[in-house]
Amino acid sequence: MNSIWSQTCEIKERRPLSENIRTDVAVIGAGMAGVLIASALQEAGRSVIVLEANRIASGQTRNTTAKITSQHGLIYQKLTKSIGEERARQYAMANEAAITEYRRMITERGIDCDFEEQCAYVYGGDIDALKAEAACAEKLGLGASFTPDAALPFPVAGAVRFARQAQFHPLKFLQAVSEPLTIYEKTPVKTVTEHELITDRGTVTSEHIVFAAHYPFVNFPGLYFARMHQERSYVLALENAASADGMWFFAEGEENQYSFRRWGELLLLGGGGHRCGENSAGGKYDALRRQAQAWFPDSREAAHWSAQDCITADGVPYIGGYAASRPSWHVATGFQKWGMTTSMVAAMLLRDRICGKLNPYAEVFDPGRFTGETISGVADEGVHAVKGLARRMFKVPEEQAAEIAPGHGGIVMLDGEKVGVCKDEDGTLYSVDIRCPHLGCQLEWNPDERSWDCPCHGSRFDKYGALISGPAQTDAGTRE
Ligand code: FES
Repeated sequence: MNSIWSQTCEIKERRPLSENIRTDVAVIGAGMAGVLIASALQEAGRSVIVLEANRIASGQTRNTTAKITSQHGLIYQKLTKSIGEERARQYAMANEAAITEYRRMITERGIDCDFEEQCAYVYGGDIDALKAEAACAEKLGLGASFTPDAALPFPVAGAVRFARQAQFHPLKFLQAVSEPLTIYEKTPVKTVTEHELITDRGTVTSEHIVFAAHYPFVNFPGLYFARMHQERSYVLALENAASADGMWFFAEGEENQYSFRRWGELLLLGGGGHRCGENSAGGKYDALRRQAQAWFPDSREAAHWSAQDCITADGVPYIGGYAASRPSWHVATGFQKWGMTTSMVAAMLLRDRICGKLNPYAEVFDPGRFTGETISGVADEGVHAVKGLARRMFKVPEEQAAEIAPGHGGIVMLDGEKVGVCKDEDGTLYSVDIRCPHLGCQLEWNPDERSWDCPCHGSRFDKYGALISGPAQTDAGTRE
């Protein structure tokens, strides 16, 4: 099902690339990050084009819950400890600057996008941890305080409140911001060289290249696949569910891991998070529906959808130079669960980087950083990827095709090879090669989305094997 944003805003179609062109900056990806980066650079006087493999905002931007906030869970004590107070402050101030910049653009351009100032709350059961986080965030310069009053349908000890945060309709905003930009849709990039983006429809030659398509698809250099994984989460839009204003998120380790925000008359209830490729039992939407019924018995579901986020090893996005060996390449990825705010951070950072200006917040986001956290995180991602590969080679098949229930999928042996098979309600079988075309891990069936998902780096494919999202660039092989 489409998100409420997709159901209420249609962004104008653009033509694909049809010739060779030259530009100052070429951006890959026309989601929120790519469009904001292009807009900031165009405003700074650069010539910019954006190449989009599918349609504007066809990736994660249309599946967000659209919160604009510097409150990203209980992170500030953690960051202060892991990267030091100075860089934790850079992180906080960069995100606050992003909120200010959204406000400026929306006001100056008169963008009608349901922008509303709201408080952001992170709730939890450990009152000492909440108070300590509020004090730490305040020390870093954020408008933070502890409140014992949490307007939630279950008891908690309280919440950390951040004042002057915001929420909006992401597609209405993006529609307005993308309007004056040169964007080519249906133009997937096949190959990237130092200064060229090669597509089937023409080549773009550019002084600078920005990777802003969610997950970088060039594996070497950069090695982003070894330092990030992807997580999925699920959302219900509920009518007739009374709840207080504000944007609510959970502290790590809480039993109740749900997010709440309102959009007009609707309540958006999020939850069910898991690592991509690790949902073979399914039931995430059903679990959310059960909670919705228990807390809001008179509510009715207006929409449901899911989102996917790139998670970095140390919890800080990668924004800056792609790799030391490619000085003309830049990257914005690893936005955790805070893609709207971080997209704006990326726009400001990469605009300054490309225009040769010093940005006071650049250091903390530098993709070339190596801390204790990132090193152990890289090791974790490696172990996970190796497990995915090992499963492909050695795991015993779980089901035979005849035993797959309608609406479900599984792995069967066909001609001595493992094949992914799923079955429609009418009994039609679809089979795919379960080797992920990215780096070869074994795909897993996700019954909630009826897709084949990769546990290593999060590529996803539909029942026909067609690519839904990367880093893979091609479809999974299909079988007769
Ligand atoms: Fe990397 Fe599948 S996404 S192996």
